[in-house]
Amino acid sequence: MIRLSEDEIKFFAQEGYVIKRGVLDEDLMKRGRDRMWANLPPPLECDRPDTWVGPLEQCDDPDSHRHNYMWRLRAPGREGWMIRLLATDPSVWGMAEQLLGEDSLVTPDRIRGIYCVVRDGDIPERPTTCHVDAHPFHLGVVGYIDDVGPASGGFTVWPKSHRRFYYDFKSQYKHEPNDQYQADKDHFDQQPYRDCHGKAGDIVFWHHRIGHSVGHNRSDRIRQAVLYDYKKRDLKEDEPPCDYMWRDWPGVIRALEG
Ligand SMILES: [Fe+2]
Repeated sequence: MIRLSEDEIKFFAQEGYVIKRGVLDEDLMKRGRDRMWANLPPPLECDRPDTWVGPLEQCDDPDSHRHNYMWRLRAPGREGWMIRLLATDPSVWGMAEQLLGEDSLVTPDRIRGIYCVVRDGDIPERPTTCHVDAHPFHLGVVGYIDDVGPASGGFTVWPKSHRRFYYDFKSQYKHEPNDQYQADKDHFDQQPYRDCHGKAGDIVFWHHRIGHSVGHNRSDRIRQAVLYDYKKRDLKEDEPPCDYMWRDWPGVIRALEG
């Protein structure tokens, strides 16, 4: 079983994210990749990397959503093996409980699915800007089911931005930005970001209010990741941000005070 060290928990508190290597189950990852290749939407073809280039034609099918360079294959996210691949994997679940408290998490009935990023192709590099997610949760996790090299569509974070963005919303967990949000977003868009690239099996935990984005995929592969958002059972959506932002994170409090 893989666990977070005290230093890794402190890093998460300071930086807003933490990467753990080689966590996910090999067989379930292969099943995920096979599912992706078996469901390629047109005009993508398995053996033709020249077709894996965006922007994709918009498709609002919730099970296989396409927009710009993102293809969200959500349908398998409801299946038990996919939930076990990420959300309830004993290591991943255990680490989420280390941060948020034992026996505190909502039992998952699905994960987001397989989120793919197609290639940029030959276009010039585009600027990368951050956003904060709009739905209520505590802790995000991204898991790679295939290798993701640098500048290949990796999950991208603006370190430490969670400590500013946390106070930029009227409530702790809903998306109701206050007047400071845009100013902080403009600030962080000028700051260096971290491309969390990695190998198949690596995961990234991230705080729900960290500024993040999906990196542009300059590689010749399709970026393949699975995503889940951990929520505590006692999440109160309407409560304003706490003075002390780690109130709901007993594992973080222990590490910071230890
Ligand atoms: Fe997001």
